[in-house]
Amino acid sequence: MKFFIDTADSREIRDLASTGLLDGVTTNPSLIAKTGRNMLEVISEICDLVEGPVSAEVTATDFETMLKEGEKLARLADNVAVKVPLTWAGLKTCKALSGQGIMVNVTLCFSAAQALLAAKAGASFISPFVGRLDDIATDGMALISEIRQIYDNYDSLATEILVASVRNPRHVVDAAKLGADVATLPPAVLKQLIAHPLTDRGLEAFLADWHKTGQAIL
Ligand code: E4P
Repeated sequence: MKFFIDTADSREIRDLASTGLLDGVTTNPSLIAKTGRNMLEVISEICDLVEGPVSAEVTATDFETMLKEGEKLARLADNVAVKVPLTWAGLKTCKALSGQGIMVNVTLCFSAAQALLAAKAGASFISPFVGRLDDIATDGMALISEIRQIYDNYDSLATEILVASVRNPRHVVDAAKLGADVATLPPAVLKQLIAHPLTDRGLEAFLADWHKTGQAIL
């Protein structure tokens, strides 16, 4: 399973990229707004920090402008994945950009039918938002399971399932069990993945016993 990081904060991305565990980055207009910086500068900077796909979202709502925005974003770097919303204009843009060999991430997916459309439009990634579904008392992970089943039925559908709106480590584990291709994690959730009190306590005890021996490996 690939791990993307869901932030536009390049300092955090630089930090987490140093673990060697980051496979890509996702941003959205809200995350860009949070940085208070120019989007084109931020995306270019992030693309230099990670080798994998960096999602940059269009903000137009009509096909013609969306396409122009997508082409402009794709020119920033080879690893830009243009993010488009799950609307008819978004799907048309997806089809046009993927036809040019540009990676497209179709976002704001809340149903299996939408995911099927995105795959038919040639999306490289489909982003189902599990957390936002859970928020309205709908099982977000059930959607991942449905999409996995549908995509696995057809060799012609090459779209990767990118689990988005991840809120906790349980989402990550459940998505991995279902065979999702990617999870995009807020930095805090990525850091939470490693935490276990028994690991901390175990290490403390090992080191205390080791120090009593008076030995050193180096
Ligand atoms: C990523 O591609 C999505 O934009 C993001 O995961 C949405 O997360 P949220 O529901 O926490 O805003």
